[in-house]
Amino acid sequence: MSGPPAAPAGPPDRPRLHRVRLVAPTASMPTLLERLEPLADAVSVFEREVDEALEPLSFEVDLWLAERPDPDTLRARLAECLGGLGVVLPERLEVEEQPPETWLEAASLRGPPQRIGRFLLRAEPGGPAPPETIPIWMEAGLAFGSGEHATTRACLQALDRLVVRRPRRVLDLGCGSGILAIAAAKACRCRVWAVDNDPIAVRVARENVGRNGVADRVRVLLADGLGRGALRRAAPFDLVLANILADPLIELAPALTGVLAPTGRLVLSGFLDRQVAAVEAAYRRVGLRRLARLDRPPWAALVLGCCGGRRPGRPRRA
Ligand SMILES: C[S@@+](CC[C@H](N)C(=O)[O-])C[C@H]1O[C@@H](n2cnc3c(N)ncnc32)[C@H](O)[C@@H]1O
Repeated sequence: MSGPPAAPAGPPDRPRLHRVRLVAPTASMPTLLERLEPLADAVSVFEREVDEALEPLSFEVDLWLAERPDPDTLRARLAECLGGLGVVLPERLEVEEQPPETWLEAASLRGPPQRIGRFLLRAEPGGPAPPETIPIWMEAGLAFGSGEHATTRACLQALDRLVVRRPRRVLDLGCGSGILAIAAAKACRCRVWAVDNDPIAVRVARENVGRNGVADRVRVLLADGLGRGALRRAAPFDLVLANILADPLIELAPALTGVLAPTGRLVLSGFLDRQVAAVEAAYRRVGLRRLARLDRPPWAALVLGCCGGRRPGRPRRA
């Protein structure tokens, strides 16, 4: 199996982030978030998966800080701020340093609007768009997905062709700026789950979803792969878009195929043309076959679907 491609690289001096995780009872929301916001650069929240018969529902709350905090000082501030909310602070706060994510790049869409299939990508709200186009206003900021990268463009082109299938539930795994999720929501007027494991991408995607007026259709979640119960509950998806990298896509083959509807389509990108065979083989083993390949040298994208109505997801015997 080939290693991950060298490009696209993130900005060379992208700062590391520091994460402090707390557990909070459901009843503390949303007051808890309001009180935490001034203390961190970003705050993200996961619903914890617990056996509800044994344990009350609670949330994992992550505080993201650009500067490494002093654990004792931060703990004292948290104790002061969170009084009365039922949050039990650990004796000593753990501060975890997160490595910079090379996939994130600061590239942002500049210059005139760009047309990809029917999608018209703009860096600003802009005036009226030609009637046959679907305007998308993207500000990628620190998240990947301004629409300038060949893999994003290949996914948009594949999506443009798949709209005729009228997908009702779409998953965008590795949503970055949210560009594919927004495009799907606008083109298909369907429900979309957009997922990223980077809290900055999640924040940027939410902003872009709001900017494009599709917040009622797109749910943006912080998750690693399909590691959130909400995603498994939302399945099956008629269309899954995943522009990540060859290695995670290969690893995710059984899980991604398992959430795909029997007649669903999977659009994969983020790998080099020399990695296509390995990616395709991993999905063939779980019952999917190639329906189309889009080449954007040195990058490639694949459109996959189920073989002959077989329920996807289980590895085939050799
Ligand atoms: C190449 S960007 C794609 C962004 C956007 N979908 C596009 O097509 O332009 C890949 C994104 O996947 C995210 N990612 C990588 N591995 C992931 C995983 N295991 N689970 C969720 N997101 C992941 C990265 O944080 C990054 O934002």
